[in-house]
Amino acid sequence: MLERELSMRRGAQFSEEGNDDDESKTRKHISFAVRVTKLMGRIGVLWPLILLFLTLLFVSIAMHSRHLVCVSSYEPYSRMNFFGIGDLESDFETLGVPWCRSKHGRTVEWTSKDLLKGLEEFVPIYESRPIKNNMYGMGFDHSFGLWFITRWLKPDLMIESGAFKGHSTWVLRQGMPDKPIVSLTPRHPEKYLKKGPAYVDGNCTYFAGKDFVDFRSVDWGKVMKKHGITDVNQVLIFFDDHQNELKRLKQALKAGFRHLIFEDNYDTGTGDHYSFRQICDQFYIRGGGHSCFRDSDEARIRAKRKKFWEKAVDIEELCGPEEAWWGVRGEMRDDFNHSNKAISYGEHFKNSRFLESVLDVYWELPPVAGPSLTHQTRYDPGRAHSPIVEDGRYGLFQRLGLTRLEKSVFNGYTQMVYLQISKPGS
Ligand SMILES: *[C@@H]1O[C@H](CO)[C@@H](O)[C@H](O)[C@H]1NC(C)=O
Ligand SMILES: *[C@@H]1O[C@H](CO)[C@@H](O)[C@H](O)[C@H]1NC(C)=O
Repeated sequence: MLERELSMRRGAQFSEEGNDDDESKTRKHISFAVRVTKLMGRIGVLWPLILLFLTLLFVSIAMHSRHLVCVSSYEPYSRMNFFGIGDLESDFETLGVPWCRSKHGRTVEWTSKDLLKGLEEFVPIYESRPIKNNMYGMGFDHSFGLWFITRWLKPDLMIESGAFKGHSTWVLRQGMPDKPIVSLTPRHPEKYLKKGPAYVDGNCTYFAGKDFVDFRSVDWGKVMKKHGITDVNQVLIFFDDHQNELKRLKQALKAGFRHLIFEDNYDTGTGDHYSFRQICDQFYIRGGGHSCFRDSDEARIRAKRKKFWEKAVDIEELCGPEEAWWGVRGEMRDDFNHSNKAISYGEHFKNSRFLESVLDVYWELPPVAGPSLTHQTRYDPGRAHSPIVEDGRYGLFQRLGLTRLEKSVFNGYTQMVYLQISKPGS
């Protein structure tokens, strides 16, 4: 199943548009000279190979000049092999993809075929979105994931914590056109309407602005009663509020909710809140548990991959004081990183055991398509599941209508996750 796939992935993950700052959801134009300089910086030690490549190139120009007409200048596969970067592929497994164990090893009902069918249906819906440039909000991958899961589960009530301009509210509405939504968000989305596109839903109860209440403090019994909901299994909660996910899980558990989606499920060493991905990054999980030894294979691989993927972290970044690698440099972050508390490895381990004791299903949305198709430059595919549309399947990518979308919409993937909490006592 999708849940537990090894990252044997094909293809090139190298984009010319690489850009080192984190604001790159909007691509700035980079002059050719700057690109060349950046490229040179990245490939420093590979100079002898490049010289060899150039020599070969000149020889080939001399010998087959008329064939050159057909050589595309945008040919990452062959260039990668010349530069000797092709062997990055074999490192994928060494890095690996941590995941959370569930109590009975169950997984989701849907298959990759269902996801493909969903994608075909969702692309035109996404094209009609009211907020076209959702910078700092969800991109295509997570919008699809939220819509797909919503439509599959068919909840009678949708609750979201953190709505920003309302894009996620709109996505939930596309998933379930006639069901009520409850939205908890400090700033009412209508405030954004004054400045530009935003979405305010007609069938949504907003706890926003002066009426804002934190998820923890809502009287859920009252809210459910108001909407005539008697079965918690019919409620879907979507968290996009940058809070410690363990804290949110415990609050949801207390209210009895069973179906939860978390937007930003950051990888170890990254992000502004403690995430499930971080919690489940444990030595007994393949791809989990790390060593801060600076001379290790992992350190070498991380250093290399960091040059290609903006969100990849090397050992220096991964490890905090006293070799603390869990969470973010040994910290459990919360509330947009306004709070960060150092925790011991023992506490971190305990958290994962707790999570396992209440989990029926842990399912990370795979990226929609491989990076050679989407040209995304942020997440490291070596730390993500196999994409729904794998690298090299350009025909399928095009058939699904994905070529019509702007490249920047593929730059927001952070391992969105669906959790199903087990029934009490099961
Ligand atoms: C709200 O939902 C109800 C059904 O639950 C539907 O009859 C009504 O038309 C919806 N109102 C709006 C404004 O969408
Ligand atoms: C998070 O907070 C810590 C401590 O205040 C700070 O050192 C770190 O740079 C912050 N990280 C981000 C990404 O804001």
